[in-house]
Amino acid sequence: MELNNCSAIVTGGASGLGEATVRSLLSKGVHVTIFDLKQDQAEKLAAELGDKASFSVGDVTKEADVLAAIEVAKTKAPFRIAINCAGIGWAQRTVDKAGNPHSLDAFETIIRVNLIGTFNVLRLAASEISKSEPMENDERGVIVNTASVAAYDGQIGQIAYSASKGGIVGLTLPAARDLSAVGIRVLTIAPGIMDTPLLGLLPEPQRQALGQGVLFPKRLGLPAEYGALAASICENSYLNAETIRLDGGLRMPPK
Ligand SMILES: NC(=O)c1ccc[n+]([C@@H]2O[C@H](COP(=O)([O-])OP(=O)(O)OC[C@H]3O[C@@H](n4cnc5c(N)ncnc54)[C@H](O)[C@@H]3O)[C@@H](O)[C@H]2O)c1
Repeated sequence: MELNNCSAIVTGGASGLGEATVRSLLSKGVHVTIFDLKQDQAEKLAAELGDKASFSVGDVTKEADVLAAIEVAKTKAPFRIAINCAGIGWAQRTVDKAGNPHSLDAFETIIRVNLIGTFNVLRLAASEISKSEPMENDERGVIVNTASVAAYDGQIGQIAYSASKGGIVGLTLPAARDLSAVGIRVLTIAPGIMDTPLLGLLPEPQRQALGQGVLFPKRLGLPAEYGALAASICENSYLNAETIRLDGGLRMPPK
């Protein structure tokens, strides 16, 4: 798929894997709309990146916010790409050592942001892209979601997060099947342990230890490696309906 002069939205685009994807798509000539809750960071990044970068502040779980971001993207160039990077984490055991059950509110929040938010962006972006003129070979666009290796190897305390990411893996094939009729591909990336601002908060010895658990190379993944894969997925029209692990071969132990 020719990326030059397409328009994209990247949710969670103000930080980490989303930011790296924004940079990677821009380098391919894509007009990118950064969609994030964090106004200051989104605005600052868009200003740094120049004319082809825009931003729209909002929440992935809110229909009106997503539609507003798509409107911004549509004004720039034909809207063909949505990358779902927005997500949040949570650590709590099903039952803690004192016998208390996991918070239902926390479980619902994680499912709401990570899974329902991803689906909300996917359905609204797909609806818009489905109405566009097809390109070569009847292709109209592509949607890339972000799961996690926790979808497969959820650790102790990751029950809510793993369930949310497992849902994203699960929706990938039926979404691709549903959207095949309108020429839209759907893929998911399942990252391992990536060196984003979140992990930057950990002390260096702990970061090193996490890297040592990776099969090869023995280090944390780089956000730029995620951004490069996301752009490559967009470019390669024969990739569809798959979840790709980006984890250096890591298989997470129980804890
Ligand atoms: N960093 C890792 O090691 C890792 C591993 C596996 C999966 N992931 C997944 O990758 C994605 C990006 O993670 P990251 O490490 O770059 O995190 P990050 O915290 O650096 O970036 C996430 C961005 O999403 C935004 N966001 C959160 N909730 C939102 C909402 N409701 N609406 C709009 N924006 C929202 C945040 O403001 C933030 O800018 C997440 O889905 C995360 O679960 C990360």
